[in-house]
Amino acid sequence: MNTTPLLKNVWYFGLPSSAVALSRMKSVTICGEPLVFFRRQDGTVAAVRNLCPHRGIPLNYGRMVGDEIECPYHGWRFNGQGVCTAIPSLVEGQDLDPGKIRVQSYPVAEGQGMIWVFIGEKGTAKSVPSAPPQRPEQAPPIPPMPYFAKDKGPDLLDVVEFPCHIDHAVIGLMDPAHGPYIHKSWFWRNERSVYEKAKKFAPVPYGFQMVRHQPSKNSFAYRIFGSAPTTEITFTLPSVRVEHVQVGAKNFVSFTALTPIEERRTRVTQMVFWDMPWLLAVKPLIRQFMKVFLNQDLQAVAKQQDGLKFDPNLMLIRDADTQAKWYYGLKDAWFKSEQGRESFINPVKETTLRWRT
Ligand code: FES
Ligand SMILES: [Fe+2]
Repeated sequence: MNTTPLLKNVWYFGLPSSAVALSRMKSVTICGEPLVFFRRQDGTVAAVRNLCPHRGIPLNYGRMVGDEIECPYHGWRFNGQGVCTAIPSLVEGQDLDPGKIRVQSYPVAEGQGMIWVFIGEKGTAKSVPSAPPQRPEQAPPIPPMPYFAKDKGPDLLDVVEFPCHIDHAVIGLMDPAHGPYIHKSWFWRNERSVYEKAKKFAPVPYGFQMVRHQPSKNSFAYRIFGSAPTTEITFTLPSVRVEHVQVGAKNFVSFTALTPIEERRTRVTQMVFWDMPWLLAVKPLIRQFMKVFLNQDLQAVAKQQDGLKFDPNLMLIRDADTQAKWYYGLKDAWFKSEQGRESFINPVKETTLRWRT
C-alpha cells in the first residue's frame, strides 16, 4: 500500500488564529485548492476561493473594505459568503446583477486558537463556481479540548512543510519504531535504551486511541512534568493526532494537525497547549525540543522521497505498523461511506500492541 486519495468532505486545519489579524487576509492552498481566509470586523473568519471569478487573479492581492474583499484588478467586491456585492464599472442600464456572481465560499470553524475549514468535493466545471460544499456537520468532528477555555490558544506553535503525500506524513508521525533511530540526540534516547512496550488501544469515533497510561520510564521527555503524568494519544480522521498528558488536574496537549497542500506536499502544524504555569520556565526548552523533533521527522520523510520516486512496494508489519494499517482502514471506511456504499464502520478493535523502542 503506497498512497491513497486525499480525503474530501472533511474539516482540515486551516491556519492558527494568530495568522489572520483583524481586517486582514491570508492565502493558503489546501488539497490543491487556493483559499483566502479573512477576518471580519466582528472577529469572525471567512474563507473563499482565492481566485477572482472575473479574470482569475488571486483575491488576496486586493484589499479588505469593511467586511468584504476588493479584487485588485477591477475592484469587484466579495463578501464572506462569496457573493459579489459590487462591480464598479457598471453604468445605469447595464443590468448585470452582481449578486448572481459568486466565488466559492468554505465553511469555517474557529476555536482554541485554531481555524478549521471544510473542504468539500470540487465543483464540476472550472468556469462555474460551485455552490458551497455540503454536509460539514456529518464530517468527523474537530477534536475538542474541553479541559481548556474556548479562547485559549496554543502556548507554542511550529509549522513545517513535509515534501510528501499526507499518508507518509501521518504514518511517519505515528510510527512508534523510528524513535531510537530518527530521534536519537542528546536529550532523547538511543538504541541502547530500548525496551519492550505494550500499549492498549481502543477505537474512538473516526479514529483510535492509545488509552491513558503512565509513560515508559525511558521517556526522558515526560520528566519535565514531575510527578506521575499519564498520557493518552488519539488519532482521528482526516489527520489529527492529539496527545493529552495529565498531571493531577493539570493538562498538557501536543496537538498535531496535518493538512494536504497538494498531492505531495503536506503542512504539519504542531501546537502545544498547557495550563501548567510552572512550564513557563522551560518554555524555550520545550520550543527547541519541538523544533528539533519535528525536523528529525521531516528529514526522514524527505530522504524517504528519494526512494519512493522508484515506486517500490512497501510493507506494514505487526505490531509496530498496526496503527498505519488502521489509518488506511479508516480512510477506506470513510471512502466507502462517502460513496454511500455503506455506513462508516470503524475497523479498529480494542487490542494491545507490542513493540520494542
Ligand atoms: S479580475 Fe477581479 S475584478 Fe476583474
Ligand atoms: Fe517522529
